[in-house]
Amino acid sequence: MCGIIGYNGKKQVEPIIIDALTTLEYRGYDSAGMAVTNAKLNRTDVYKCAGRVKDLEKVCESKTIDSTCGIGHTRWATHGGVCDANAHPHSQGNVTVVHNGIIENYKDLIDEFNLEGSLKSETDTEVAAAVLNYYYNETHDPKKAITKAVKRLRGTFALVIMFADIPDVIYSIRNVSPIVATLSEEGAMLASDLTALCRFTDQYFVVPEYTIVELHKDSIAMWTLDGKEMQPEYLTMSWEKNSAEKNGYPFYMEKEIMEQPKAIRDTIAGRTKSGIPNFEADQIPDSLFTECERICVVACGTAMHAGLVFQSLVKTRLNMHIEVELASEFMYSDPVIDEKTLVIAVSQSGETIDTLEALKYARRKGAKSLAIINVKGSSIARESDYVLYTNAGPEIAVASTKAYTTQLSIFYLLVYKMAHIRGIMNDDEVRECIRNLKRVPEVIGSVLDEKNAIHVIARGVLEAKDLFMIGRGLDYSILQEGSLKLKEVSYIHSEAYASGELKHGPIALITDNTPVVAVVTQTRLMSKELSNIREVKSRGAQIALFIKADLMQQSTREFDTFVLPNLPDELMVFPASVALQLLAYYVSSDKGFDVDKPRNLAKVVTVE
Ligand code: F6R
Repeated sequence: MCGIIGYNGKKQVEPIIIDALTTLEYRGYDSAGMAVTNAKLNRTDVYKCAGRVKDLEKVCESKTIDSTCGIGHTRWATHGGVCDANAHPHSQGNVTVVHNGIIENYKDLIDEFNLEGSLKSETDTEVAAAVLNYYYNETHDPKKAITKAVKRLRGTFALVIMFADIPDVIYSIRNVSPIVATLSEEGAMLASDLTALCRFTDQYFVVPEYTIVELHKDSIAMWTLDGKEMQPEYLTMSWEKNSAEKNGYPFYMEKEIMEQPKAIRDTIAGRTKSGIPNFEADQIPDSLFTECERICVVACGTAMHAGLVFQSLVKTRLNMHIEVELASEFMYSDPVIDEKTLVIAVSQSGETIDTLEALKYARRKGAKSLAIINVKGSSIARESDYVLYTNAGPEIAVASTKAYTTQLSIFYLLVYKMAHIRGIMNDDEVRECIRNLKRVPEVIGSVLDEKNAIHVIARGVLEAKDLFMIGRGLDYSILQEGSLKLKEVSYIHSEAYASGELKHGPIALITDNTPVVAVVTQTRLMSKELSNIREVKSRGAQIALFIKADLMQQSTREFDTFVLPNLPDELMVFPASVALQLLAYYVSSDKGFDVDKPRNLAKVVTVE
């Protein structure tokens, strides 16, 4: 959702802001803007428009911007429509702000501070600017003004603030919505997202909640609301410097699909000892896995789908009670949670507010928590008792791919770990599983080598309005993700069904040439699965079959078939998922869509 950048240093700020906002485009947005210090005239100049960062560049082109201090924003409309006036930054009196999040009590504040008539936009953000301005006029002190103002705001916010008469400092404060900051040779910077900082430095810190940050040209200061100075706790980014760039691929989604062998290798690396899963380096005690009686996974979208695979594994390997909950529904469904529950929160960004709130709720109920996260130091990682980071590197495409398969990799390690310490699998059995898990990158590599064959299958569904995906067992779990992938990037209506469920209703939707994607990788389910495929075939369906090599037989050659390289059935989710990602990718790119930025979607979802 909205993106934020702030820079105060020696260089001209305009290109830095434009560049950072371009990097942040993937978060999803509808307007862009910047505010820069005009030191000569002792004022803050604002440039903004509805549209893309390119449109903002055009707005700026005709102006002479000579400034080394400024803030930028990409807006995802929540309060007020998409128009120039509602784009950030917003100014009131001396104060100019950009904001991520939602000020829930903005209507009350309009009444209380008598703002009706003085606001130029319909946004909650401008109200925050007005409240800050009110307290600045009262105190003539930026820190006191911020302290008083934030005590009046309800909701989530990351605010970045400039005062016209303090031209050489940028201020920031946040609650829930993230802000990361860094000091490099170029100057002081802050952003909503690490990807905007990673080309400048690999050192950064997460701004603690309710802490005032001051960005000076060559230093950063931090203060608690009661005036105590704080020191930033720097973290080191494990991402390579150019890892947030496209590196010659037309879209990030393709690049990230192709990166999966490395991402999975990096995620497994260092997490086995003598062939047995080992989380010592992650500082996770074995007791976390021995003392729990039930597991509950909370996550959204793709991350939740990774949880569905884990659910199957836990049932078959551990014979344990497990639930996988949509984080947005979790706390309203009266979940059964106690001290014996291990809650696992899964999130690429680590900032998804639904998942964060679900995790907090579970912890309040006494559950132990483990987070599976890609972005180091993110809010969910900090909220959780323990963290396992997926080492996928930055994921920029809105449609999640390498985050999913690295989350799966962690889940496999977890299941084998738990089966081992609970005495369900012996050393040799676990070692054999880990050996096979370590073959996954190579096997995915051979699917990637055959990507043109998937491209051909994709051409067959380009014109589809509706599409169905069918499978059983683990295949059904990954089809829910495959179906989500296809609908979000290609806008084709796609539904995943457990094959056995078809005859209980959905088969009514199958008519001549309805495309049906079937995945068959589970040996024990194969014959039933093939019967289900024939049922839809005989009603006119156009079948695209993704089948494990060992399960190929003469009769399956009648379909458009992609043969998946062999792994033990339990691990076939990896090559099959990657094949479905490629299918979605090619349908979207052949249709000429902006694959990386599907309509209405945002990469980081920070509103409930
Ligand atoms: C789909 C997709 C979303 C995310 C979901 C959770 O491709 O990316 O469904 O998986 O919004 O995001 P994270 O993992 O950041 O919590």
